[in-house]
Amino acid sequence: MAKEKIILTGDRPTGRLHIGHYVGSLRRRVELQNSGEFDKIFIMIADAQALTDNADNPEKVRQNIIEVALDYLSVGLDPEKSNLFIQSQISELTELTFFYNNLVTVQRLQRNPTVKAEIQMRGFNDDNAADNKAGIPVGFFCYPISQAADITAFNATVVPVGEDQEPMIEQTREIVRKFNSTYAPVLVEPEILLPDNASCLRLPGTDGKAKMSKSLGNCIYLSDDSETIREKVRGMYTDPGHLQVSDPGKVEGNTVFTYLDAFCKPEHFEKFASCFVGKKVSFSFASLDEMKAQYMAGGLGDVMCKNFLYAVLEDTLAPIRERRHRFEQDIPYVYEVLRRGTEAARAVASQTLAAVKRAMKINYFDPGVLDELIAEQSEKYR
Ligand code: TRP
Repeated sequence: MAKEKIILTGDRPTGRLHIGHYVGSLRRRVELQNSGEFDKIFIMIADAQALTDNADNPEKVRQNIIEVALDYLSVGLDPEKSNLFIQSQISELTELTFFYNNLVTVQRLQRNPTVKAEIQMRGFNDDNAADNKAGIPVGFFCYPISQAADITAFNATVVPVGEDQEPMIEQTREIVRKFNSTYAPVLVEPEILLPDNASCLRLPGTDGKAKMSKSLGNCIYLSDDSETIREKVRGMYTDPGHLQVSDPGKVEGNTVFTYLDAFCKPEHFEKFASCFVGKKVSFSFASLDEMKAQYMAGGLGDVMCKNFLYAVLEDTLAPIRERRHRFEQDIPYVYEVLRRGTEAARAVASQTLAAVKRAMKINYFDPGVLDELIAEQSEKYR
């Protein structure tokens, strides 16, 4: 039998999901889901991982589980095809983590560039931090190991994530190899699947900063209403050197164009041609390349570009927003999806845990095993 193709991925529920999540991961998940190429798809709301640096605020995590679930459903993840579940309700994951902990060194964890950056960002190492943050929580430091449990519990072969998750997948692969060579070959080594469009690898914030992040206040959320999006696009960072409309403009590092790279489709130029009809000048573009060329040559103003970007974003986001509103009116359904998904996921994780314990020979009371164990140990004392 050919190896099953299984996807596992997920998000920490620390806020609503934004368009960076959408182009970096969600959009791809929906495509993969609808491709029919995968035997199973698991999408996890990683609340336990979210608690590794929010121990003092479980309420925030609790509130955001439903937000993330609504975002999932609104982008088109379909519970009939993708298993949506809540991490903390699967205790098998913590058991796996406990055994994997022994296969990873402190030094190896310290080398993880994503964890390093997060420690910096959260000020865990800052003795002068005003609150009690100084010091790295052990749980946070070790979350890459728990992430390996998430992935291997479901025998995932493919993990579609953003590039910041690359070190986690690498760590997972190392744990799998170490486990399989130390005990028995029961774990599956996953592959990472990165976004294929460079501007989607890491969508910058509306302020042009490298990353869209809640704490920087530079996000466009999937749940933002139309007027909010218009305002955010209006205030967006462009080319600070593009002072006069007639000046040549830069498209590199210009957030408006980075977003267009991520969202614009060829048909948008016909559909939203009116955005380029002005009082003084008008343009007609057939492609993003033509639009960029005009911007670089001068004459094409930021206002026109922003109006077009707003139309393009709305084209993608309006249907998502409408679907979200429908699911918001049926919260019992959303929790039922999560409850059922969690139950199904738990059944799979529990099989993996059983296989792991068998491989480690710590399944003392399994049927048949106890008899053998008794015979073996009795022999020793005969
Ligand atoms: N670390 C991921 C994030 O911050 C969330 C996550 C937890 C995850 N476990 C995972 C992603 C397993 C992929 C696979 O978004």
